[in-house]
Amino acid sequence: MVGIIGLGKLGTALGSRLRERGYKVIGSVKTRKSLERGLKMGFDVYLDNSLVAEKSNLLLLSVKPYNVAEISLRTDKPLISFVAGVPLARLAEISSRPYRAMTNVGLTAIAVAGQYDEVVDKVLRAISPVVIWVEERLMDPLTVVLGSGPAIVAKLFRAYVEAAVDVGVPWDLAKEVAAGLFSAAPQLVGGLGYEGVVEAVATPGGTTIKALAKMSGIEGLLASAFEDAVGRLISKR
Ligand SMILES: NC(=O)c1ccc[n+]([C@@H]2O[C@H](COP(=O)([O-])OP(=O)(O)OC[C@H]3O[C@@H](n4cnc5c(N)ncnc54)[C@H](OP(=O)(O)O)[C@@H]3O)[C@@H](O)[C@H]2O)c1
Repeated sequence: MVGIIGLGKLGTALGSRLRERGYKVIGSVKTRKSLERGLKMGFDVYLDNSLVAEKSNLLLLSVKPYNVAEISLRTDKPLISFVAGVPLARLAEISSRPYRAMTNVGLTAIAVAGQYDEVVDKVLRAISPVVIWVEERLMDPLTVVLGSGPAIVAKLFRAYVEAAVDVGVPWDLAKEVAAGLFSAAPQLVGGLGYEGVVEAVATPGGTTIKALAKMSGIEGLLASAFEDAVGRLISKR
């Protein structure tokens, strides 16, 4: 039985995936409104974190960072926290077997820090096809790069579509073309390398190199957006 403390947006995504993989899931929330929403989704859900901890073999923590102070549990069961910015040292006050993890609403990958454990690894692999054990120092940057990733990539995707519409491509076609390009990028770059892709497409003095030259500020813009976001996360501790 996996217990999810904080059956909100991320918690229900984690719980739904675990249920699909045959795990029994139990969860907790803070308010009656969310309790009713959880019950409607078919979850076994309570307002009592201790009860959830008692009935579970392993716990996932998915409350907002400012709600962590309310969690008065003390347990020896593994606790995998997905809470942004909360370090292992703080999680150790809740569980003697703490794990600090990060993923995103698409569950595209999970990064996890803590003492390697086969059961923890197995549960995480049931949630996401990609599980990466990392040092804790990487968790702050990965919170932005992996956790915020879907929203950031969605914004890049949107910018691509809008730029296409700006030069006259109809919305539907722009979205279709952009979707194909974004999904093919890993394979193309993996095969040819970044330079290889650029050199295969950009003729000297041609059209593509004009567009690329105009985009030269994008690396710095993205880097400084990530730096600011990680800086905010650290400053909140
Ligand atoms: N959403 C994402 O894309 C994402 C990605 C990676 C990591 N995360 C991390 O996941 C955590 C949750 O994010 P979220 O977007 O899923 O937030 P959310 O939708 O607000 O969910 C938080 C849940 O925690 C419950 N909760 C609050 N205090 C509680 C308490 N004392 N005991 C039990 N349950 C409690 C809330 O219940 P009520 O609704 O009843 O208040 C709510 O269901 C955050 O720390 C965030 O950093 C989120």
